[in-house]
Amino acid sequence: MIDKINTLLAEIEALKAEKAEEIEALRIKYLSKKGEISLLMSDFRNVAADQKREVGMKLNVLKEAAQNRINELKEAFESKDSNDDSIDLTRTAYPIPLGTRHPLSLVKKEICDIFRRLGFSIAEGPEVEDDWHVFSALNFAEDHPARDMQDTFFIAHDPQIVLRTHTSSVQTRVMEKEQPPIRIICPGRVYRNEAISYRAHCFFHQVEALYIDKNVSFADLKQALLFFAKEMFGADTKIRLRPSYFPFTEPSAEMDISCGICGGKGCAFCKHTGWVEILGCGMVDPNVLENCGIDSKKYTGYALGMGVERITNLKYRVKDLRMFSENDIRFLNQFESAH
Ligand code: DAH
Repeated sequence: MIDKINTLLAEIEALKAEKAEEIEALRIKYLSKKGEISLLMSDFRNVAADQKREVGMKLNVLKEAAQNRINELKEAFESKDSNDDSIDLTRTAYPIPLGTRHPLSLVKKEICDIFRRLGFSIAEGPEVEDDWHVFSALNFAEDHPARDMQDTFFIAHDPQIVLRTHTSSVQTRVMEKEQPPIRIICPGRVYRNEAISYRAHCFFHQVEALYIDKNVSFADLKQALLFFAKEMFGADTKIRLRPSYFPFTEPSAEMDISCGICGGKGCAFCKHTGWVEILGCGMVDPNVLENCGIDSKKYTGYALGMGVERITNLKYRVKDLRMFSENDIRFLNQFESAH
């Protein structure tokens, strides 16, 4: 019996297996109910009484050795398996902490959602644009100061190709392609050659709205503006329109809302006027309609445009514009959102 145990011990030490099935076969051969070791165990009762102690101990050693060896083989096989090329070791470890939406994205979405409720749909256009879509079609005279080198970034010294300075360029593109009724909202990034400071940046974001149909009037514009202001800043918000000038609208206006901080009484934020300016608007100039192939005798329309940073500042009182593009996680984490 002792000899048999010793032979098996030597055999087990030397066991080799490469595949899962081979390992399983070895387990059955040695450790299953009818396996070699179990057979020895059942023979144990025939061992002479004075040898029982020694043989018993040896048998236990053998059984443990067999179990250990088979486990070793299994582990070696499994770790070999995980070195397989099909497993991507460069993958990020889980769990990945979920980020938050950027405050500008949140506000942009809120603006778009409000206009969507009024029946507007989203339109987008390129950031690298040509002079026609950004300026000429929108009635900018040849010598208009907005075309000046100081404001506009030109691409490769070509005065015809620019980074758009406003999202009004998307109006041009949509009007060229489609006939009224047109009811679009155009969010996007715009660029201006400005010195970067707490209140100006060389890129920022705008949302533009355009509505063209038969009989669209200034009263329609005013009503849409009032709806927007109340939805965005609260039901108590009042609006005021001041005459202004934009090349692409006639008449043009700028809209102020009652200051949300002092409720219109006057404070440092609104420079003691009770009002803060938030957007430009007006009735689309007939020249612009004609430039884009829309019959200005048949159709009229209104347009409006606003800066997303400005609206975000009013909502969240961010004092320095540069924080929007610095990617400081301590700033961004404060804007948690469900969507
Ligand atoms: N495009 C103007 C700007 O960048 C904003 C603007 C004003 C857009 C009046 C409009 C508008 O559509 O009617 O400053």
